[in-house]
Amino acid sequence: MESQIQNQSKKRPHIWAIGGGKGGVGKSVVSILLALGLAQHNQNTVLVDADLGAANLHTLMGIKSPNRNLNDLVSQKYDSIEDICVQTPISNLRLVCGASEILSYANPQFSQKSKIVQSIAHMKADHVIMDLGAGTSYNVLDFFLVADKPVVVLTPQPISIQNAYAFIRNAVYRKLSRMAHKHPSLQELVRMAMNPKNEDQIRTIANLHETIRNSHGEKAAERLMETVQKIRPILITNMAKEQRDGNAGRIIQVVSEKYLTVHCQGVAAIPYDPLVEKLIAQMLPIAALPKTSRALANAAAIAKKLIS
Ligand SMILES: Nc1ncnc2c1ncn2[C@@H]1O[C@H](COP(=O)(O)OP(=O)(O)O)[C@@H](O)[C@H]1O
Ligand SMILES: [Mg+2]
Repeated sequence: MESQIQNQSKKRPHIWAIGGGKGGVGKSVVSILLALGLAQHNQNTVLVDADLGAANLHTLMGIKSPNRNLNDLVSQKYDSIEDICVQTPISNLRLVCGASEILSYANPQFSQKSKIVQSIAHMKADHVIMDLGAGTSYNVLDFFLVADKPVVVLTPQPISIQNAYAFIRNAVYRKLSRMAHKHPSLQELVRMAMNPKNEDQIRTIANLHETIRNSHGEKAAERLMETVQKIRPILITNMAKEQRDGNAGRIIQVVSEKYLTVHCQGVAAIPYDPLVEKLIAQMLPIAALPKTSRALANAAAIAKKLIS
């Protein structure tokens, strides 16, 4: 899936994926805020509801019953993803609605995900933001791993910090497992190392690198490191209430470097904004947030920094 989009022409859109473990941390809210921020900066932006489990982005955007969704692409009702885009009330911002029925298809979904990713990579847009589902299933991780801007959303709570780290660790091992898929003995080693209590005492990616160098040689070990270092997450602590809440992302940055040899692309925080909660509680679209909203202003600044 990743090689598919690496070969595109230079004009392909920047792909963002907003993930990070458990539901309720604000993945959908952050997706929308970043999209609104990009649209404000005159970037032609498309939001894609890639939460195949609980598609609700259209509701948060104030679109009641969309007549087109991702399933129309997967089931070939429409040939192009452009045809299933819905214009939102915001200029420069379109939406591709989600479809829970995709999860119920009988065959493995890798080909369907590939089709979605292929289509996204060809969109006529500056940025495509995928709002991902909760958890660390392959349905989530595979979308996360194709993004140039893979965002991990967390909240300042310790449990959320743990979940966000687990999400990055799972993403690393998913990518390594796919890298090794044509080499059963290597894949077996990766699978074994993924168990944090493995008997071979492989606790870090540096340990795994050493083990692979001894068993499979320098080249394989090097390929492992290159694969890991292509993952450059952006950590966003959402619903921050005080200055020190921003430290949550920094903790993950340090731990990811130490144990996973993963270097983060950015660390930022979005404040808790009572207006966001109020709008959602009243079933009003977040797109109705005034520009003075602190959460929106912060997200817009983060988006600008990340694209400059
Ligand atoms: N920055 C924020 N300020 C205030 N409330 C927020 C913020 N981000 C998220 N929320 C609250 O958290 C809830 C869950 O957010 P949501 O984006 O749906 O989570 P997820 O997509 O991760 O499941 C929202 O309904 C809203 O009440
Ligand atoms: Mg969501």
